[in-house]
Amino acid sequence: MRDEAVSDALLEWYDTHARDMPWRVGPTARKAGVLPDPYAVWMSEVMLQQTTVAAVKEYFQRFTARWPNVTALAAADDGDVMGEWAGLGYYARARNLLKCARVVANDYGGVFPNTRDELLTLPGIGPYTAAAIASIAFDEAATVVDGNVERVMARLFAVETPLPTSKPELTALAERLTPLQRPGCHAQAVMDLGATICSPKSPACGICPVQSPCAARKKGIQAELPRKLPK
Ligand code: ADE
Repeated sequence: MRDEAVSDALLEWYDTHARDMPWRVGPTARKAGVLPDPYAVWMSEVMLQQTTVAAVKEYFQRFTARWPNVTALAAADDGDVMGEWAGLGYYARARNLLKCARVVANDYGGVFPNTRDELLTLPGIGPYTAAAIASIAFDEAATVVDGNVERVMARLFAVETPLPTSKPELTALAERLTPLQRPGCHAQAVMDLGATICSPKSPACGICPVQSPCAARKKGIQAELPRKLPK
């Protein structure tokens, strides 16, 4: 199957199976041209690093209720922000959140830069977060690669080289699959697929929208991939 057919199948699946999250704009509204607030996308992506969607939802609601935009957050008291973060862990994320908010407020007039490359220059925004904000909030064809995406690529293309050696190859495959149309929906579709159907242990191949092109499934090795080098 051509790459375009695979990404089409993922988008079609996303249209009816996108998970509902408070920071998302659903596929129907996105198709009508509505994009989510970059502030909300940024905050959710920072919180989602090392934390589950279920745990993040409450924190996200509290943060955005108290500080509805990046200028408000930039003006917050450090102790108040650290206090609201309590329980999420990895406190460097909260310190970087404030640092980044202040740079966006002071140097960018409170408007998030809208390209992956500019986003990468901001404090606490690495390749994953920059690509996630650029694709989800601005529909730039930036490729988002997290653990879910690596697993989906390893299986779709039956990459038997173990992680982390295979990282560059998995990234290249994810880039190859990223469509120019609806890249933001595509990024979220691959992450949702990895989180729900293409799970680490018992993937639900029977209901997977890309079961037919999946090379690992053809070989019957889907549950063994991605392989990992012993630590
Ligand atoms: N995990 C982290 N960011 C995500 C997103 N935008 N969609 C689905 N899962 C995610």
